[in-house]
Amino acid sequence: MLDSLEKTLPRDSYLSEAHFEREYAAIFDAGWVCVGRGEGLTQAGDYLAIRLNTQSLLVVKTETGALKAFYNVCRHRGTELVPLKDPGPITGQFQHSIICPYHAWSYHLDGRLRGTPHLAVHTDGVSLHALTLAQWGGFIFIRLDPGNDDPLRSTLGHGVERLQRYPLQDLQVGAAITYEVAANWKVIVENYNECYHCGPVHPELCELVPAFRRGGSDLEWDEGVPHREGTNTFTASGTTLRNPFPGLSEIEKTHHKGELFYPNLMLSLSMDHVAAFYLWPQGPGMTRIQCDFLFHPDAMAKPDFDGSDAIDFWDLVNQQDWQICESVQRGMQNRVFQHGYYAPMEDYSLDIRHYVRSKLGEE
Ligand code: FES
Ligand SMILES: [Fe+2]
Repeated sequence: MLDSLEKTLPRDSYLSEAHFEREYAAIFDAGWVCVGRGEGLTQAGDYLAIRLNTQSLLVVKTETGALKAFYNVCRHRGTELVPLKDPGPITGQFQHSIICPYHAWSYHLDGRLRGTPHLAVHTDGVSLHALTLAQWGGFIFIRLDPGNDDPLRSTLGHGVERLQRYPLQDLQVGAAITYEVAANWKVIVENYNECYHCGPVHPELCELVPAFRRGGSDLEWDEGVPHREGTNTFTASGTTLRNPFPGLSEIEKTHHKGELFYPNLMLSLSMDHVAAFYLWPQGPGMTRIQCDFLFHPDAMAKPDFDGSDAIDFWDLVNQQDWQICESVQRGMQNRVFQHGYYAPMEDYSLDIRHYVRSKLGEE
């Protein structure tokens, strides 16, 4: 009987605008959120601008080489310093200072107000509104809530140890694909957390990793999931000319690992590349997902470097995932749907109920 199965969160949790706002405030506006990679910001003035739901943010490389984060809003009349019609992220470079496009107030790269043309006012002590920023493994995380002082490292949890031999800090983005997925962010996380769907949804992937066909009950994610004999990475052939990352264990050279860092960073790790997914919810039924493909700089420096074997394969798998997630989102809108069920093998996805409910103060 279905009674023996655990129930998912109720329909409102995935469909209601009011629930989305409450949940977004408690999770994304309150804690650490990943906004992407930092290695592209190398020169003073390099920036990344992104809008997370309604909040527009800037990450800037300062003169001292540090990364700082600010709200992307001028202190004069509220103009975006970097216009973001699209949520982004976009990258660019400020020349020496940040100049507002409206009336040309200027700011030092560390956020201090520098000049207010034709206005004799004291600028001392006036800065852009700052945000908390921290980095791990080359990823940039920001936190909007100044009252929350949870260190990033403790929020990330044990996944950091499980990935300790992967040289994440050194990797570089070889390509990125952005997807607009018409599904609630939790549908996407729940899908990522289980391989019960891999047999029906990902036939090509199951050719490479036959264990995925059986679903998730006996998949050993801590150690990694083994590839079919003779294959060792996520490409159409299951092989590649790229070398394994330096420092991996023998097992990691032939196994696949996955990690979810709540709420919005998902990592899939092969021996030669990493697919990094950032989830940026736009509403109860819409999520922007950027997938960065990370490679080792030694591989990228080779004249014949070509990451398309991994990128094309991932794009196929990603489209399969997003299409089924969008179908879930549409299906849940039927009035008969009140909640779903987790299969026993999906232990990991049970976590999202606890995660969301504890953030909402419901546990
Ligand atoms: S709004 Fe920025 S200078 Fe006026
Ligand atoms: Fe999938």
